[in-house]
Amino acid sequence: MAVVVIVGAQWGDEGKGKVVDLYTEHADVVARFGGGPNAGHTLVVDGNKLVTHLIPSGVLRAGKKCVLGDGMVVDPQTLLEEIAGIKSRGYLVDDGDLLIGERAHVILPYHRRIDQIRESRAGAIGTTKRGIGPAYEAKVARRGIRMADLLRPDRLRALVAQNLDEVNPYLERLGGEAFQADIIVDEALRHGESLRRYIADASRFVHDSIRRGQSVLFEGAQGALLDVDHGTYPFVTSSSTLAGGACTGLGIGPTSIHVVIGITKAYATRVGGGPFPTELDGTEGERLRDAGAEFGSTTGRPRRCGWLDIPGLRLAVRINGMAGLALTKLDVLKAIRPIKMCVAYRLGGKLLDEIPQDPADLAHAEPVFETLDGWSEDIRDVRDLDDLPPGARRYLARIEDLLGVPLYLVSVGPSRAETIVLKNPFRAERTE
Ligand code: GDP
Ligand code: IMO
Ligand code: MG
Repeated sequence: MAVVVIVGAQWGDEGKGKVVDLYTEHADVVARFGGGPNAGHTLVVDGNKLVTHLIPSGVLRAGKKCVLGDGMVVDPQTLLEEIAGIKSRGYLVDDGDLLIGERAHVILPYHRRIDQIRESRAGAIGTTKRGIGPAYEAKVARRGIRMADLLRPDRLRALVAQNLDEVNPYLERLGGEAFQADIIVDEALRHGESLRRYIADASRFVHDSIRRGQSVLFEGAQGALLDVDHGTYPFVTSSSTLAGGACTGLGIGPTSIHVVIGITKAYATRVGGGPFPTELDGTEGERLRDAGAEFGSTTGRPRRCGWLDIPGLRLAVRINGMAGLALTKLDVLKAIRPIKMCVAYRLGGKLLDEIPQDPADLAHAEPVFETLDGWSEDIRDVRDLDDLPPGARRYLARIEDLLGVPLYLVSVGPSRAETIVLKNPFRAERTE
């Protein structure tokens, strides 16, 4: 048995969905621990594509338990639509395979409206407008509404009234429309009834699964540089996206975790605002966006594209305790020649090995690039590292060398099969 954490090592959209779906073969339980429907994880199996927002990416494999952890923020309407969509495609046949943490916080319509209004004003940070920030704000302000509250009408009514007392004047001040408590409560109670069969003590379930010797996969959302504490603040999401967030979000002790694997693309992308020092403007960026089909899985927004940021990955490796990396989208770099990668930052005459976290430092830091030849061959059929063109092998070897951690897999296409497997994290020894 093994307990493995998979987290994004960049600004999200690294291909977590694909890798989690692949690794679910070795797992009994797959659990999300943070974030909400801001996530969009793409799974491609037998030519069919599915994007999950709230449900863990293990859902395509029958019999595997999928858990929405207590650290998440859940939009019940979105979740019900997602469940219906997945069921209509013949998956999630057994309702017992899905568990929703009773302590997960609920995104309500007023959270979405606050997010949307703020995004239309000065100081917008390019959120997904799904109400993520306002729902987490309510949670830490101790006014949040949790999944279990949807099953208790009296408590829900009191909580919604208490929230609207503050929210409605605030919305009106921002030029938005106020909400009626009854409408919110009735809808939330209906959602609660539809979801009742899934709501459970997720922490206890995951804990017991581990104790019984089952293999568990913790699926991160977003990425290290979007972490609320250690990312490129304030252009971050509102939750802990790191491996440590798996412990707090699921109520599992860090001693249960055997190995942490990070996911990175072969280059870098970012969607939304905020610093991105290796970003490529103009036609170069567009070429990468077209080659990698870089459009948001949740919002459809074009993703900003740039060269791989090794100092950013160094930070991600360190703050997550990553044993290694899964590298995706290597196929996209075909014919992008030469390839550059940022190997350090220069700031005030000093060379920095990690991306600076202070916004002013980041604004002034200059990326130091290294140039590699690249390759022109299509590599989507390659399943063995030795069969990659020498230029691709050199690129991977240089990344391993600069980061000091091994690659666990290399992905050469969106589907499950298009993968070069190098090491299996479920067979890794516990790192003491
Ligand atoms: P996530 O949020 O980390 O799960 O990533 P997304 O699903 O938002 O974005 C990753 C995109 O890249 C999806 O469209 C995937 O189907 C696609 N993808 C994943 N791995 C590969 C790969 O190795 N090559 C190519 N060409 N596409 C990939
Ligand atoms: P996955 O799990 C990429 C970004 C938003 C915005 C910032 C804050 O698919 O990798 P939020 O709506 O969370 O308040 O937005 O975070 N963001 C993501 N970017 N992938 C994601 O998820 C993201 N989730 C949030 O674009 O910049
Ligand atoms: Mg995504």
